[in-house]
Amino acid sequence: MSRSVGAVLVAGSANLDFVVRASHVPAPGETVLGREFATFPGGKGANQAVASARAGAVSTRMLVALGDDPQARVLEEALVDAGVAAQVVRVPDLASGTAFICLSDDAENAITVAPGANTGLRPHHLPSLRGVSHLLLQLETPLDTVATFARLARDAGVRVVLNAAPATTLPEGMLDSVDVLVVNEGELTALTGRGTVAAQIARLAVPCVVVTLGERGCVARRGAELFLQPAFPVDAVDTTAAGDTFCGALTARLSEHAGLADALRFASAASALACTRLGAQASIPARTDVDAWLATQVDDPARRAALAVYCGTP
Ligand code: RIB
Repeated sequence: MSRSVGAVLVAGSANLDFVVRASHVPAPGETVLGREFATFPGGKGANQAVASARAGAVSTRMLVALGDDPQARVLEEALVDAGVAAQVVRVPDLASGTAFICLSDDAENAITVAPGANTGLRPHHLPSLRGVSHLLLQLETPLDTVATFARLARDAGVRVVLNAAPATTLPEGMLDSVDVLVVNEGELTALTGRGTVAAQIARLAVPCVVVTLGERGCVARRGAELFLQPAFPVDAVDTTAAGDTFCGALTARLSEHAGLADALRFASAASALACTRLGAQASIPARTDVDAWLATQVDDPARRAALAVYCGTP
């Protein structure tokens, strides 16, 4: 008998990204004369919802809080165009979320978020979880809301995936409700303190922990089992939303009952492709593109060995 495939529900932020390209990201107190300017739909939550939908999740829903302003329409339309069923909490007295991004010529970025209406997402806004297999959360909405959503989903038998970004200290006990934790190195250190990646992961009592390591790749621990996935090398132009693409694609594949190794490989490829295009949601590839590109990729044992050494895995 085949297992049923449930929907992915993303609850989180949406921001309109104001992006300026410059030779380098300014240091504190420095003014940099930039070049091209553009706006893109973004926000960690919305980016992850778009990534889930484009990765082919059977259905992707998003709970999002928006203002009552022209930016809200842009952000909602972007979700709908990507095939995400958006459930909007209207926060008329606050501007929709905004992010100010400086993108450097070496594809690095510095981001400042003005959360605005994202702060209006409250614990009582969680919709019915009927038909939902995975709830995907991030930390650009109030922490008490995220913690309550995670607990209610866990109680309802829904798998909880938390991307603990941006880095912060989590409320006591919040990780008890999390099935899959996805973090980058900075976020991992904020949660565990310093050490090798393997030692840091071992300190977390979450069933599955995934650590993204940029151009090195990613490592995951599920129970006692470790998974290493080297990154796919690309010529990166913009790493904005690379991590979000990873989270959305990973969750979509897990919702289809893909094995963890396969899901990590797919998410890594989707994330690599996102780095080759400008913008947040604008850069997120469709499943057909990822599958076609993956078919041309060969895993490199030397990169895998280097990743293992970096992580300090046995
Ligand atoms: O993770 C990238 C996102 O972070 C951007 O789209 C920006 O809106 C901020 O939320």
